[in-house]
Amino acid sequence: MIITPKVRGFVCTTAHPIGCKKNVEEQANYVLENGKIDGPKNVLIIGASTGYGLASRIVSAQGCGANTLGVFYEKEAKGKRTASPGWYNSAFFEEMAIEKGLYAKSINGDAFSNEIKDEVIETIKKDLGKVDLVIYSLAAPRRIDPETGEKYMSVLKPIGQPYTNKSIDIHNKTISMATIEPASDEEIANTSKVMGGEDWKLWIEALIKNDVLEKNAKTISYSYIGPEVTRPIYREGTIGRAKQHLESTAIELNQLLKPVDGQACVVIAKALVTQASAAIPIVPLYMAALYKVMKKKGTHEGCIEQIYRLFSTKLYNNQAENIYDEKKRIRIDEYEMDDSTQKDTFELFEQVDSDNMQEMIDIESYQEEFYKLFGFSRDDIDYEQDVNTEFKIPSIDE
Ligand code: NAI
Repeated sequence: MIITPKVRGFVCTTAHPIGCKKNVEEQANYVLENGKIDGPKNVLIIGASTGYGLASRIVSAQGCGANTLGVFYEKEAKGKRTASPGWYNSAFFEEMAIEKGLYAKSINGDAFSNEIKDEVIETIKKDLGKVDLVIYSLAAPRRIDPETGEKYMSVLKPIGQPYTNKSIDIHNKTISMATIEPASDEEIANTSKVMGGEDWKLWIEALIKNDVLEKNAKTISYSYIGPEVTRPIYREGTIGRAKQHLESTAIELNQLLKPVDGQACVVIAKALVTQASAAIPIVPLYMAALYKVMKKKGTHEGCIEQIYRLFSTKLYNNQAENIYDEKKRIRIDEYEMDDSTQKDTFELFEQVDSDNMQEMIDIESYQEEFYKLFGFSRDDIDYEQDVNTEFKIPSIDE
């Protein structure tokens, strides 16, 4: 089949398998070039198929030589429908890990459910014994409470009052003012239910109860703070409220982990184009301005650079004494939040409009990175070629 991108709203409904394979290889090569890390041995990654979770899986395997068990919710190819990018990423990741003699298994299903937690625990007991790192990297629009069966939807809205600012339509390349109405109390609570720390805690409780956490095990989850200009929609909006819940859950988890002398913390990462972040209003325009500034300064990083730096300078390799900020979080967003980067980004954000956007911001990079998430926009692939769409994930196909 010849596969072309089909964009609907914030997502692309097709994915190119060979492009996804090259993306995984590129990330693995980055780690290879940057050297080994004295890191974890057995890693569970929840949300392992794209974005920060996939980069965490690649750094664990390629950088630390770790066995990895990945959990995600992805779609296999069917008839004329391609698989989702996370499916292809995971199929090629597993192939690559197995070639290197590493254990790599994946579980495709709803990480919020009790069934998937049970399946993961059984797999750890059978194959790995225990894990020494648990990465919680879910970005989900909905969650079904495993006890009540009730469904909760997350929303990306401000709290208290409407928020109006410039927003970009990436595909039509236009900038206009967007107003987002504030969330109701129910929406605020529901977003925390989905994207807060409740499910992370359920995972850690289940892993402790079943004695599958190694002594000194670590668990991390990713969060974002960002600048003034996105504050009403991000940090002070519904998603920010959920992230605050996630951050306070980390403090609770440290108590829970005492019996194994474990540690939990939230890592504040940089804004990057992923399937999750593309859906947040106003943020993509900020990112296109930020990319322009960070690329010019030579400080731009993608998911793999961020996570490699996290593992090699903060989490492992005889980490520096004090790796935490005042709220016991690890910061890898310092290049984004650097004063002069923020000043320059804000200036561009203020000045940009539909007419000058090509010169002012890095719209090309943003678009390219968006398409790249789905395996498109790579200059080493001939997209006119017929390709097979059906690839199995080795451990799922067993
Ligand atoms: P992403 O959309 O690339 O990845 C989400 C992952 O969660 C995928 O592996 C997907 O399969 C999995 N997933 C979603 N629902 C699931 C379910 N019900 N069961 C099992 N797996 C499920 O997202 P991204 O951006 O990598 O986000 C990961 C975390 O990083 C999120 O907590 C996000 O808030 C955080 N973060 C993201 C930043 C960004 O700019 N992209 C910045 C800082 C933090």
